[in-house]
Amino acid sequence: MSEQIEEIIKKMTLEEKVGLCIGASFWNTTPIERLGVPAMTVSDGPNGLRHVPDMNDPDQRSLPATCFPTASCVSSTWNTELVQQMGEAIAEECIAQNVDVILGPGTNMKRSPLCGRNFEYFSEDPYLAGEMAAHFIEGVQKRGVGTSLKHFAGNNQEYQRFSISSEIDERTLHEIYLTAFEKAVKQAKPWTVMCSYNKLNGTYASENYELLSKILKQDWAFEGLVVSDWGAVHDRVASFKGGLDLEMPGPQETRVRAAVEAVRKGELDEAIVDESVRRILKIIFKAQQTPKGGEFDQEAHHQLAGKVASEGMVLLKNNGLLPLKGQRKIAVIGRGAKSPHFQGGGSSHVNPTKVSIPLEELEKTASDIEFSYSEGYPKGEDFRQDLIDAAVAEAVAADAAILFIALPTYIESEGYDRQNIDLTQQQVALIKAVANAQPNNVVVLNNGAAVAMQDWVEGVAAVLEGWMMGQAGGTAVAEILFGKVNPSGKLSETFPIRLEDTPAYINWPGEAGKVYYGEGMFIGYRYYDEKQVPVQFPFGFGLSYTSFEYSNLKVSQQSFKDIDGVVVSVDVKNNGQVPGKEIIQVYVHDQKCSLRRPKKELKGFTKVELQPGETKTVTIPLDFRAFAFYHPGYHRWITESGEFEILVGASSADIRQKVNVNLESTLVLPSLLNKESTIAEWMQDPRGKEVIAPIIEQMISRGPQKDIKEIEDTEGGIEMGTLEFVKDMPLLSVLMFSQKDLPLPPEEIVQAMLDEVFEA
Ligand code: BGC
Repeated sequence: MSEQIEEIIKKMTLEEKVGLCIGASFWNTTPIERLGVPAMTVSDGPNGLRHVPDMNDPDQRSLPATCFPTASCVSSTWNTELVQQMGEAIAEECIAQNVDVILGPGTNMKRSPLCGRNFEYFSEDPYLAGEMAAHFIEGVQKRGVGTSLKHFAGNNQEYQRFSISSEIDERTLHEIYLTAFEKAVKQAKPWTVMCSYNKLNGTYASENYELLSKILKQDWAFEGLVVSDWGAVHDRVASFKGGLDLEMPGPQETRVRAAVEAVRKGELDEAIVDESVRRILKIIFKAQQTPKGGEFDQEAHHQLAGKVASEGMVLLKNNGLLPLKGQRKIAVIGRGAKSPHFQGGGSSHVNPTKVSIPLEELEKTASDIEFSYSEGYPKGEDFRQDLIDAAVAEAVAADAAILFIALPTYIESEGYDRQNIDLTQQQVALIKAVANAQPNNVVVLNNGAAVAMQDWVEGVAAVLEGWMMGQAGGTAVAEILFGKVNPSGKLSETFPIRLEDTPAYINWPGEAGKVYYGEGMFIGYRYYDEKQVPVQFPFGFGLSYTSFEYSNLKVSQQSFKDIDGVVVSVDVKNNGQVPGKEIIQVYVHDQKCSLRRPKKELKGFTKVELQPGETKTVTIPLDFRAFAFYHPGYHRWITESGEFEILVGASSADIRQKVNVNLESTLVLPSLLNKESTIAEWMQDPRGKEVIAPIIEQMISRGPQKDIKEIEDTEGGIEMGTLEFVKDMPLLSVLMFSQKDLPLPPEEIVQAMLDEVFEA
């Protein structure tokens, strides 16, 4: 194939080359008939296919496709196999509708619960998000359909998304905002990666050489093509130079001309264009290998959407009312029971093949129960006391009440952020009034991201987070409420108590063109752990109708080399009366590190099904990266020898078993000493410590000084008496103060010492 591609490139005119690098229409690349290069069709993504065959249709209607639950629900399954199956089903629909590449998954981090597109993203944790994205991609691509991993990178809000600059320091960028992309790229090899609209540290992602060429293509060895988000290109020549292969959508004739001109004038190297052409052709021909057309099994996919929904819903509270049993009459309250809220707004909006109506599903699941219905709240945010009064009357007349509380559909969407994380005023009043009147009450929530609950959660008997549950979510709710399915989802994002408690609160959403990621690596549970801020429901939390016991935590080796990693095993027992699934989470805590690290970080997980009384041993491998951190001095991931704590738990706040291990770093790293290095940094550097020793001794012998404080060098244990404040001064500055006693100028001394360090 690569020979054939080279042949085609040789035959292409410059206009054809540049033309191929800019779309022909909203969803198609530019075909070159004379050379046998067909057009490639792409479509959204990511929780189902949104294929709009005719963009001239005033409603831009997409063909019916299965609407799967959105990413927050998908990731709350923590079930990588299921995500893969979902990917395969989406690929089948792409094949049936002649689509070559699906524009998903989205794997940006949930920096703040306010981001309008959080429902499309997996998690606040990069490891979980990376696992989900990788398995989604593997599922789709297994069937010969491409994916587009998006939005690369630093697109964590919708406010000014076309222009704002996300200001992210190097370490935070790599440890938090790039990790999920990195995992997905390296493990699953997406055919395409979509760059984001925003600027990253001052440069548009679409023109960002560091991001697209250096990190993605060189460091991560990405072999696919980089496509722009729709309309993210501002300067086609600059974007070619940055590493952007395909601009979408098209046509953009003026831009084709400008880029051709730039090559002719010698302002743009034709080899750069050729490289983009090569990448695009490779994917086009890959897509050709999958014959398109046919049908997909709508019913089977609907069932699968229901399975994902039922594994992703999270039981947040249950005082014992659930699973429902023994009721004769149940009041179903809330518009969401009849017109379910199951997906978000914007480009991910799918035209579902059919929709399960929660009220009807309840009736089917429990045909012996009499259900009443009342609307509870109006469509928008008006306040209607009459609806609350009617709901209360129904609740009182029944044995239990189920409240379907769905955020108004326009609140969570692409294109803008949420203003708050609250339910509507009417919904809060409704929940409180019903809970007051009927103690047997369940709140079923439908939303795409965390909502605040402190005003009402104490008063209710049970809460099921149903998320944007996809077209079959109604069935999943009914099955969970009546115990046909034991809930097994766990939160892939923290539910804070108040918006004011959230990590990015002060820096959100930025101003004067920039948004500073001032909280650094501390997003999600990393922040709540560090600041000891109480939360409503922690990351990784979710209840079941049974309970699980953890025991016998073991590691394959107590001491191991970073490159070998270690395998963790633990016994998990189902202690209850019903079968259930448990998600076992492994967090790592570095006991001591030269740089600050979070108190714990998720580095592995597994989901296991257990019959009542059954015990299984689960094993979770931890590799180099589970212990490494990104060092901005070395510009790479490194490990440091020392003790780590391995924490195994049922959530980030419910650690059941712990074990300490010793890691031996195999890295030989160059010294980071330079002219600005402080005395402390010299003392911490293995070679630097030897070189600086005579000077330190001199300083000590020059004592006694009245205000000297004894300090101990943490690394070597050498005791030295010197001024506390000297240790954080550059060696050079310290020498400047005692110039008269020195044989040579201070600069020369420091340079000679540095030479000694680097010669060694
Ligand atoms: C969105 C992308 C989407 C594209 C095509 C953009 O506005 O940000 O996620 O894939 O449109 O619809």
